[in-house]
Amino acid sequence: MMKHVEDKCYSYSNPSTFKDITIKDDPISFSIVKPRRFKLMFNYSKEFKDHFKNPRNWGTIKDADGKGEVENPGCGDKVWIYLKIEGDRIKDIKFQTTGCAPVVATSSMITEMAKGKTVEEALEISRTDVEEKAGKLPPIKMYGPNLSATALKAALDNYLEKKKK
Ligand code: FES
Repeated sequence: MMKHVEDKCYSYSNPSTFKDITIKDDPISFSIVKPRRFKLMFNYSKEFKDHFKNPRNWGTIKDADGKGEVENPGCGDKVWIYLKIEGDRIKDIKFQTTGCAPVVATSSMITEMAKGKTVEEALEISRTDVEEKAGKLPPIKMYGPNLSATALKAALDNYLEKKKK
């Protein structure tokens, strides 16, 4: 079944179905002078659409060295990020989410951004970096970069805590 991801927030958990989902650019209407209404179209970037339809690094890592889990308080959907660290460098990284398109796309992007970096370098990756990579997102979808960046930080913190013990 085809769905328009921007009509409302759907939850996804099976990436093999993402290719069949149509991503529609997002019409946002607003009014400056009542009662006239204006419409703005948010055009999702090619990169955003590609990362949603073909999420990179989807999955889990058995015996992960670090694991981060965050929840979107608005809907209860979660993002998990798993890390395999070798010599202080991220050798492997995977993610899973029950969240919708902005969370899938930005989590996929952040795993690519972090892979191969040292733990210290990965800690520098911010939600702003993810926002820049995702291209323009409507304000209502900005929780995507926020959740993915928070999940990465949680996984790195978990690794650093385990390392102390
Ligand atoms: S509906 Fe839950 S993350 Fe979008």
